[in-house]
Amino acid sequence: MNQPQSTAGLLEAIQPMRRDFTYTGADFERITRLIYKRAGIALAASKRDMVYNRLSRRLRALSLTRFDDYLDRLEQDDLDPEWQHFVNALTTNTTSFFREGHHFPVLADLLRRCIGNHAPAIWCAAASTGEEPYSIAMTVADTLGPQASRVRIVASDLDTEVLEVAAAGVYPMERVERMDPRVLQRHFQKGRGAQSGNVRVRPELRRMIEFTQVNLLDTTLPVKGPFDAIFCRNVLIYFDRATQAQVVKRFAPLLRPDGLMFIGHSESLFHVSDIFRLQGQTIYSLVNRG
Ligand SMILES: C[S@@+](CC[C@H](N)C(=O)[O-])C[C@H]1O[C@@H](n2cnc3c(N)ncnc32)[C@H](O)[C@@H]1O
Repeated sequence: MNQPQSTAGLLEAIQPMRRDFTYTGADFERITRLIYKRAGIALAASKRDMVYNRLSRRLRALSLTRFDDYLDRLEQDDLDPEWQHFVNALTTNTTSFFREGHHFPVLADLLRRCIGNHAPAIWCAAASTGEEPYSIAMTVADTLGPQASRVRIVASDLDTEVLEVAAAGVYPMERVERMDPRVLQRHFQKGRGAQSGNVRVRPELRRMIEFTQVNLLDTTLPVKGPFDAIFCRNVLIYFDRATQAQVVKRFAPLLRPDGLMFIGHSESLFHVSDIFRLQGQTIYSLVNRG
């Protein structure tokens, strides 16, 4: 007689029948190795189905039926443009305008302090679809008025698809519903016709930001400092501790001695306390201020 199976075991047994593509545990392990090496993203075992759902679109686009054929293709050529699709599919891009709102008054104070001395520079290092760099730009514009044009804002991400959305600056109305109506009125235009139901960031705000692709794993970061503020929020959580430490250590030389580093609500820099010191809620400064 057959051994009785657990519900999970039964589900596992019937899953391949419900799937369009052949996807094994070994495929998932191979994917976790590849995305870790490429982007530093450490995928938990619980992400197995999510990975299938996200990458099956790529198999369909390439008329492949087996995940191992897809992975063979990637591994055969380090420069295959498919790598970018692979990475784009596996990043998580959740974000919102003025997320972790306590950071923005601190940024405003920092800008007021800097503007008398030098032209401030800000780097938003995991910009996703743009809500974060535009929140930074709105803070700059509302704090500095005509002086805002002196501020340099760099917004980067590894994912090229989200960067395109960010550069376009068009969002469904629901994304801005909770924003202060005066801020909304100042910085957005309402879409009409085919764009009705959308809002667009005003061109003057879009022009304040330089969008560019940066992989935080790169040993030489292709951005020019020094920055008064680096926003690296809600991306470190996707990296393991060793990768987090490598990444944030590379930020230190890009930050001005009195600059600030902003991270996400569930992140900390306590494991690099020789480099960064806590200044406020998820806000750090350099220990060695030169
Ligand atoms: C959850 S979103 C956070 C967005 C925004 N910083 C916020 O806090 O709302 C994480 C972003 O990090 C990006 N990302 C993941 N790995 C990266 C890497 N190695 N280099 C640069 N960006 C990366 C993803 O593409 C994604 O857009």
